[in-house]
Amino acid sequence: MNRICDLLHITHPIIQAPMSWLTDAKLVAAVNEAGGLGFLAPHAGQNSNPSSNDEVLSRMRAEIAKVRTLTDKPFGVPVVVSYDLSLMPRMADLLIEEQVPVVLDNGYLDETLYRRFKDAGMTIICRLGNPNLQDAQKAEALGADILVVTGFDEGGTLPQKEVGSFSVLADFVGKVKLPLMLAGGIADADSVRAAMVLGAEGVYVGTAFIATHECRAAQSVKEWLTQASADDLLLYRTEPYYYRSLPTALGKRLHAMSEEGASRAEIAKLMNGGTGMRLGMLEGDFEQGYVSVGTGVSRINRIVSVKELINQLMAAV
Ligand SMILES: Cc1cc2nc3c(=O)[nH]c(=O)nc-3n(C[C@H](O)[C@H](O)[C@H](O)COP(=O)(O)O)c2cc1C
Repeated sequence: MNRICDLLHITHPIIQAPMSWLTDAKLVAAVNEAGGLGFLAPHAGQNSNPSSNDEVLSRMRAEIAKVRTLTDKPFGVPVVVSYDLSLMPRMADLLIEEQVPVVLDNGYLDETLYRRFKDAGMTIICRLGNPNLQDAQKAEALGADILVVTGFDEGGTLPQKEVGSFSVLADFVGKVKLPLMLAGGIADADSVRAAMVLGAEGVYVGTAFIATHECRAAQSVKEWLTQASADDLLLYRTEPYYYRSLPTALGKRLHAMSEEGASRAEIAKLMNGGTGMRLGMLEGDFEQGYVSVGTGVSRINRIVSVKELINQLMAAV
């Protein structure tokens, strides 16, 4: 019996990880129907920046309603959907009102929110952005159901410490009671199998889902992923720690600034919040946008359906 599958009521212990701008109800439903767990993410289903916090919430409420028209299976939504963390309690209200089955805490470990989610009967996934045992034990004590451990191989906002996924996992296996999922660089059957052999009970996958027909990323981004390798990725310092991009014009500038010693704040300013991601990854604007993916990109060779991807990922387990 797999504890992740039991807790999440899914067939395969795979979560389609939240990715800003790139998720929507269609992707989530496709993942659910293929036996994994889909997650909405910030700007789910949107093409423009929100004009207010109220709009962030009303847009998310509408996308949650859409998920329900496409699947009756459980799905997840993060409690952090904006750079403005003061929105978290209002987002928690929304998630509880909408009876969202699974919630993601990005390691903020807020006692009041955990109690409220538990009282509402929700399943809590804690993903520590900076994995460490002390926070893992706190998550366990607060009532998290699943712990996601993230390595430096991941796409999106990178952890503070430059430790690869397989190494970081070793620090948690046997030391926490919670079932562990591994995030970062998992993109094919062999990497899933490796994660499971090393002690993960499931995998939390972002980048590989970008190269699926159902993902709303620009077609040019998907095609680039099938050609690119980890060696192409440009790493740069930013807020809070690091990021990486395929070599778009903006990605090259960000990398050069980092190499030349620009401050994290200056580099973050040029990334322009989530706008650089929207332009690069949703609109395929490789001048003004960046394309953030994990090192697992080396393992992506074809654009496939979500169902094919999940079957491929599970093929060696
Ligand atoms: C383009 C992109 C956007 C992301 N945006 C978010 C986000 O908004 N919130 C979040 O919790 N994680 C975000 N992540 C991180 C993923 O949830 C996940 O941890 C990561 O993709 C796992 O590593 P992998 O990409 O190597 O599979 C993002 C990742 C990518 C690639």
